[in-house]
Amino acid sequence: MFAFFNKKDPADMDDVQLDTNRIPAHIAVIMDGNGRWAKSRHLPRIAGHKEGMNTVKKITIAASDLGVKVLTLYAFSTENWKRPTDEVNYLMQLPVSFFDTFVPDLIKNNVQVQVMGYVDKLPAATQTAVNNAIEETKDCDGMVLNFALNYGSRAEIVTGVQKIAQQVADGQLTVDEIDDTTVDAALMTASLAPYSDPDLLIRTSGEERISNFLMWQIAYSELVFTDVKWPDFTAATLKACIADYQSRDRRFGGIADNK
Ligand code: FPP
Repeated sequence: MFAFFNKKDPADMDDVQLDTNRIPAHIAVIMDGNGRWAKSRHLPRIAGHKEGMNTVKKITIAASDLGVKVLTLYAFSTENWKRPTDEVNYLMQLPVSFFDTFVPDLIKNNVQVQVMGYVDKLPAATQTAVNNAIEETKDCDGMVLNFALNYGSRAEIVTGVQKIAQQVADGQLTVDEIDDTTVDAALMTASLAPYSDPDLLIRTSGEERISNFLMWQIAYSELVFTDVKWPDFTAATLKACIADYQSRDRRFGGIADNK
């Protein structure tokens, strides 16, 4: 009960000042609350996803302007196929609309698109949109906008373990040589090195779970939860979440410098 009253939502902070030297290099976001945002306005769930896509555009530019190196967005999980067909179809068409309208802005802002997940299982039109965006932005060397599409952490780890087992079976690796680096290299975030692990993970809409997202990579991430639903998330909310992150003491299992 008291914990409830003491709990602070970073979004309640007004006009925060950020330390520009400590902007998290990799921010990952679980963009939750689209359906509830729509429902509270008596709109169909897909209206929430459409507004959520507009938020993606705004937050991409805001993160890039702040000097973030990688922004990973959980757009569709390996479990989201369980949703009604109409909603799945809409979510599959969103990357097509997004890239159709937004690639010129991405290029103007020097943002490179990457995608992690089982892309080959997506509908052909979605795959084409994604692959074209990757190709068109490949020379951009600013922020990486990394979409998790048909992504799930357990599936990613299973695939990674299979890759490593195959390397052992082929005699390229011994069991004793398997270490953290071997696992990092076998996961879908390998191409983001040296920023494979998020510094900050944000989940919107008041839910406080990981939902099969980047489970290996968030071992030492700071977790920030806000009640703000994704369609209402703004550049100011992002800054407030980063301010919360900057107030934390990251020790990575060690002790603070001043102790
Ligand atoms: C979870 O909210 C959100 C999703 C499953 C989809 C998120 C996708 C976007 C925000 C758009 C992505 C844009 C591109 C370009 C791919 P929910 O619908 O489960 O929310 P609820 O818990 O309120 O129902």
